[in-house]
Amino acid sequence: MKKLLAVLLLAALPVLSLADEHGGPELESVDIDVADNVAMQDGARTFVNYCMGCHGAKFQRYERVADDLGIPHELMLEKLVFTGAKIGDHMSSGMQPADAKVWFGAAPPDLTLVARVRGTDWLYGYLRSFYEDPARPWGVNNKVFPNVGMPNVLEGLQGRQVIGCKQVQLVEDGKKQYDPLTGSPLTHEACDQLTVLPKTGTLTEEQFDQKIKNLVTFLAYSANPVKLQHQRIGTYVLLYLAVLFIFAYLLKREYWKDVH
Ligand code: HEC
Repeated sequence: MKKLLAVLLLAALPVLSLADEHGGPELESVDIDVADNVAMQDGARTFVNYCMGCHGAKFQRYERVADDLGIPHELMLEKLVFTGAKIGDHMSSGMQPADAKVWFGAAPPDLTLVARVRGTDWLYGYLRSFYEDPARPWGVNNKVFPNVGMPNVLEGLQGRQVIGCKQVQLVEDGKKQYDPLTGSPLTHEACDQLTVLPKTGTLTEEQFDQKIKNLVTFLAYSANPVKLQHQRIGTYVLLYLAVLFIFAYLLKREYWKDVH
């Protein structure tokens, strides 16, 4: 009996630790497809343009990215390499960690594996959750990562986001609540709601979300580049099995013909 209890407890552990993580704000879940080359190329572009000034992806090489994303090497060097690096170099940032610590209070971590450490939902939420907060050194705070040391580098695209009160639909146990009599949504005032001030960014909200989704797709790939290969190999394996099955079946029919 004791053994059984121990086993049950162990089995519940992953669930318990998951439950623990959900202490923060609700994260929207995002569907990431690393086989989507267009998304990956756009994500790579955003990454080198907006992130590599401070962050590196030093376990990743430009050449590998170019090959995996189907970008010719010359084009990669011309459009996506700004640090004077060579095609075989690691994607490291030019910033010195010691300087960064002084400027930002925290060194910008390497992002090669961040999608594995934080998860894609977290990244998608984090990058869309900067809001204006004059009390912070860079004038911005973040709902997913409170008091973060990173400035809002994507403000030009997203626009100015502010936090404030809004009427939102009541949600209990993950379910939206409706009035049982009229069927209309039940609302309440919540004061941690993010709103983008109209016409302050170059992208619409949908465009911005897509841009971030693409960026997160690139980060997901960079944290696990072999996954792409696995997917390709997986397809071949399935095809091979399908063909093998046909022959095995024909062979079986041939053998049994004489038995009947
Ligand atoms: C101006 C410098 C700067 C730029 C540009 C920048 N960041 Fe950051 N970023 C930081 C700093 C500093 C931190 C550390 C913040 C802290 O720990 O408080 C950070 C933290 C992060 C984290 C949290 C990592 C973790 O697990 O703690 C993520 C994710 C991140 N940045 C992603 C990005 C992405 C994606 C871009 C490009 C769109 C970007 N950053 C651009 C400075 C920068």
